Amino acid sequence: MTQIHATEMPAAVPPSPFDDFAGWLAQHEGREYGLHADHVNNSFVKMLKAIGFDKHYARAEAGYLWDDAGNKYIDFLTGWGVFALGRNHPKVKSMIRQYMDMDQPNLVRMNCSLLSGLVAEKLTSVTHESLSRVFFTNSGTEAVEAAIKFARCNTGRNALVYCDHAFHGLTNGSLSVNGANFFKERFGNLLPDTRCIPFNDLAALEQALAKRDVAAFIVEPVQGKTCEVVADGYLEEAQRLCRKHGALLIVDEIQSGMARTGKWFCFQHWPNVEPDIVCVSKALSGGFVPVGAVVCRPKILETVFNSLERCVVHSSTFGQNDMAMVAALATLHVIEDEKIVENAATLGAYAQSRLAKIGESCPFVKEVRGKGLMFGIDFHRPKEGLKLKAAWDMLHTLNFGVFGQMVVIPLMEKHRILTQVAGYHTEVIKFLPALVSTRDDIDYFLKAMEEVLADTMRIPGTAWDTVFGLAKRTLKA
Ligand SMILES: Cc1ncc(COP(=O)(O)O)c(C=O)c1O
Repeated sequence: MTQIHATEMPAAVPPSPFDDFAGWLAQHEGREYGLHADHVNNSFVKMLKAIGFDKHYARAEAGYLWDDAGNKYIDFLTGWGVFALGRNHPKVKSMIRQYMDMDQPNLVRMNCSLLSGLVAEKLTSVTHESLSRVFFTNSGTEAVEAAIKFARCNTGRNALVYCDHAFHGLTNGSLSVNGANFFKERFGNLLPDTRCIPFNDLAALEQALAKRDVAAFIVEPVQGKTCEVVADGYLEEAQRLCRKHGALLIVDEIQSGMARTGKWFCFQHWPNVEPDIVCVSKALSGGFVPVGAVVCRPKILETVFNSLERCVVHSSTFGQNDMAMVAALATLHVIEDEKIVENAATLGAYAQSRLAKIGESCPFVKEVRGKGLMFGIDFHRPKEGLKLKAAWDMLHTLNFGVFGQMVVIPLMEKHRILTQVAGYHTEVIKFLPALVSTRDDIDYFLKAMEEVLADTMRIPGTAWDTVFGLAKRTLKA
């Protein structure tokens, strides 16, 4: 037999992604930040590095993430609210796997698929009895775009009313009803005839509707950017005013829906609310396949698709795709089977009341607010304490909105809890834990918050050094 010398050994054959995808991917480990800096969004990479969030996550399960060194993190961001069921939920995975082995005829298009029909049936059954129709989209913003078009078509009107600080997505139509100029500036002309009113202000709503040219009022029951909740009675009265002035009420439940606030949908906390249109997305995906839905009164879709010729006058190539429908169906069933609504209600009430109590001892805390497991902590200039006020003022002359990082960064660095501020130029940190979280997870978070808030009162101290450094670097960037 001829002997092979070491120098003649054939070079190791790199694994093929088809035969060994995990092995193939492993060869590229550690390249993610470089790849993104070169090919995706270098500013985002710089920001992550600046706040120490440039981790290499290697595994995820339920409400937890693990990095490549095996450290465990609790995820209170859940992909901006996508992972309500936690990550890699075994029942959702199992249904997707089973579907993959069924070789189903997906997206034939010139047919009606059973799966999307079943999702529509299930979704409408948990929304409201008068909302029996569904239009499927691929994302939240697409659901809002569709809702805007449907409202305009149904009413024959153009104008839209929305709230200050509202967030409904970032494509042109949804951006037109965004309540922050930061997102709008530099992107050219948006939809005409939009009116911004203060959140929770019924007099302003009535005034905005009075010209009887408004197609719809769009509102989040809990604002994603502020964690402000609609006041008791607000949605009922808004609905009455919309009906009186011939406008539709669109409730954007893209973040607050699917059990997040301790009801299937947040508007259901107020039993007399019957929106005309409800927008859904994020958690409906089960964290696997992007999906969105517009759930509405039948007459609305009947006016849009009002003839055979117009039966596809609004559509999207990937709308109703089977993978998204399986993920959505699985999610709807898991929420029911595992009593996710009840868990979000109980844990949410507990977390908010305990956090509010903890906040009482920190003069920077203005308020803890939200609904269920969608809640936030809002900071303000302390009313007392010369040193505290001076530190706040100094930081705010450098940068408004960086204070929150004094909580977010140590939560990550010291306690391995992933959180983030609710938006740009805000002092609100929003918490969106997985709805499968346990009381132990919440207690761990509360203990960490207690420590981190106590550190904000140590001046001088490392927490302040960190944010001053960050504020200065942000100024230079
Ligand atoms: C209330 C609300 N509406 C709409 C959207 C837009 O959804 P998407 O990012 O899927 O386009 C979001 C996203 O955060 C949201 O929170």
